[in-house]
Amino acid sequence: MASSGNNNINAKLVLLGDVGAGKFSLVLRFVKGQFIEFQESTIGAAFFLQTVAVNDAIVKFEIWDTAGQERYHILAPMYYRGAAAAIIVYDITDQTSFDRAKKWVQELQAQGNPNMIMALARNKSDMLDARKVAAEQARTYAKENNLFSMETSAKTANNVNDLFYEIANSIPLLQPAPNPTGMVLVDRPADRATSASCCS
Ligand code: GTP
Ligand code: MG
Repeated sequence: MASSGNNNINAKLVLLGDVGAGKFSLVLRFVKGQFIEFQESTIGAAFFLQTVAVNDAIVKFEIWDTAGQERYHILAPMYYRGAAAAIIVYDITDQTSFDRAKKWVQELQAQGNPNMIMALARNKSDMLDARKVAAEQARTYAKENNLFSMETSAKTANNVNDLFYEIANSIPLLQPAPNPTGMVLVDRPADRATSASCCS
């Protein structure tokens, strides 16, 4: 969940998606400006920090890059629980990864934080010749499911920073102060409020 103080906002962000979709590569591009052509599959999950300035706030992303292999699926709720934002990644050259992305969206809609910002990263946009998932199909799906969506390439850096900046921009800057559980706030005239003794 995003938490704020002096316009510094900590925001937990999770990446989910099929094996090889490019989750790690997007994070590596965003955090270090690098790309690795033959990247090994992630084991478990990896954690990264990156800070971006938007408007008059600083958003500090606490990024969880999860592993796409099915045997790690059971761990995913640990990473998306309490997340302010999720990036669901698929590979535009792989129909199966698009189907898998839809499953992740369903899982987040059912079990994720209802205020979570969800972004669909339609990755590997540099491989247009091998495209299997039509852009129009993905855009329609994203619109229907209220996802913010972008074609990205971790390889060329196309739209990668923009993706994270858009998310940072969408994170509410002023989080309402959390009320202690069970406490009810009532409106009352200021004079009574100041003279009233506490907690009767
Ligand atoms: P898992 O850890 O197995 O879940 O995969 P992942 O989603 O983290 O994928 P990863 O970032 O490891 O990328 C898989 C392969 O795709 C790597 O060899 C990357 O170099 C390649 N790759 C990732 N993003 C892009 C991209 O935008 N364009 C191209 N051409 N290749 C990419
Ligand atoms: Mg990975």
